[in-house]
Amino acid sequence: MPASAAGLIAIPAAAAAAYFVYRVLRPAAPPLPPKAPSSMLETVAAMTSPNSIEFLTACAERVGPIFRLPMPLLRPLIVVVEPKVARAVLDNPSHSKPLFMYAASESVAGNVSTIFSARDHSAGSKWQWARKATAKAFHPSHVHAMNVSCAECYTRWMDETLAPAAANGHPLKMCDELLLTTIQFICDAAFGYQLARDEAEAVLHDTQVALEVSFRVFALVPFSETFWWAFAKGRAHRVASRRLLAFSAKMLEAYRSLPDGRKAQMNGTLIAIIDGNAKYGSDAERVAEILMFLIAGHDTTALAVAWVLSDLAHHAHDQAELRAELHAMPPAERSKSALLAAVIKESMRLNPVAAGGSVRQLEQALPLPGGKAVLPEGAIVVVPFGVLFRRPHIGDAPNEFRPRRWLAGGPDADRLADVHPFSLGRRNCVGQALALAELHTVVPMLLAEYEWEVVQSPRAELFLTNKPEGLMLRAKRVTRTS
Ligand code: HEM
Repeated sequence: MPASAAGLIAIPAAAAAAYFVYRVLRPAAPPLPPKAPSSMLETVAAMTSPNSIEFLTACAERVGPIFRLPMPLLRPLIVVVEPKVARAVLDNPSHSKPLFMYAASESVAGNVSTIFSARDHSAGSKWQWARKATAKAFHPSHVHAMNVSCAECYTRWMDETLAPAAANGHPLKMCDELLLTTIQFICDAAFGYQLARDEAEAVLHDTQVALEVSFRVFALVPFSETFWWAFAKGRAHRVASRRLLAFSAKMLEAYRSLPDGRKAQMNGTLIAIIDGNAKYGSDAERVAEILMFLIAGHDTTALAVAWVLSDLAHHAHDQAELRAELHAMPPAERSKSALLAAVIKESMRLNPVAAGGSVRQLEQALPLPGGKAVLPEGAIVVVPFGVLFRRPHIGDAPNEFRPRRWLAGGPDADRLADVHPFSLGRRNCVGQALALAELHTVVPMLLAEYEWEVVQSPRAELFLTNKPEGLMLRAKRVTRTS
């Protein structure tokens, strides 16, 4: 046999032998967490339905708080509802957001990256400078000013819509009403723009269409975004997304054309910060950022208020107790009521608006307690708050609305640190101070003057945010005896 032919056989044989020895001798990789008890088809159907939280709750009950979901992905998809491991995942600054999920939000914003979708956290990255700059808009001094605008918007709604409905005994579709009022408030407070009701309805409609197609079609069906023009939903998405971008550009132009004196008053607001930040490469980037804040800020807060009212309407005793506490305080102090804080926290625990939670891609492996299994590098980890916040570690009756568990000395007071509806770590919610201020302003206003009763109970529907779908309440003006 010629030497070159022998070499042709010997080299692959040696490589195969070396690989065999390596496979036999290398330490066995620690096993992955157990698999959820469902087929891939069942899992995909459940995870893309509005009932994904029930499905994940049932999986956790059967296999434990950390499990793998069989999904058609190249990386393992692992669900974590064990509080310490969830915290370890979210708190680790090196983990990133998985591209396939967060990039879907960019197709709403003209395929431009935003603070919400950016994955790179390195020094000088877009996310880092955008987060640092926009966080200033949520400093307490600015949140106070935004809160004034919040109270004005809600007072107008109470005068124009709530008072007549209460006088006539008409029930209200709470999600529709609160979404309209909150988007008007966010546009005013964050962008200095007075949004008329019909324009607000159009923006809400376009947002719904654009998000639905981005996350339910483009993110799931390969090449559907490329061929958007070939199907009706793709074309509807393009129209809605263009209108939303045009609306955000209109708010930016409206701000720029304000007289200098008015602009100076708006110093430090979100629109002033975004407009004045020269690091944005173009107005297309500024417009996309404005749109992302508008989307992230309005339905989250509106639906959180809706859930609080729903919980109180379903628990007349807690509602009466809170109202009595509020009435005992001067109106300007009511936002500081301890029971109010407990009610808001309990409602956000039981029905977190971000029920799907946070999703992270691990940039390094995470060994699990006991050392028996590992979350491998590259895995996609989902921490669904809608499941985590109702796990047994919470304390007594985790599925029940019991605000008093949050009060100092309450039965579960020291077990609730793992309830974090705004997420944890560097990618937590940048707007949480505004959201909490809105809740602590609006709920006392609505509760001190009105009693709320249930006309139709909601079904929790999760699509990006957890909505009390179908919630109808009747308000009755409170008659005070003292
Ligand atoms: C009750 C109301 C709110 C809740 C429950 C909430 C919840 C959250 C959560 C859980 C995240 C992390 C998402 C993730 O890990 O992927 C987040 C991120 C974010 N939120 Fe909120 N949010 C609320 C209100 C707001 C408001 C009022 C704004 C602004 C006006 C806002 C702007 C943002 C932005 C820009 C991000 C992305 C931050 C980043 O990646 O650095 N949110 N929010």
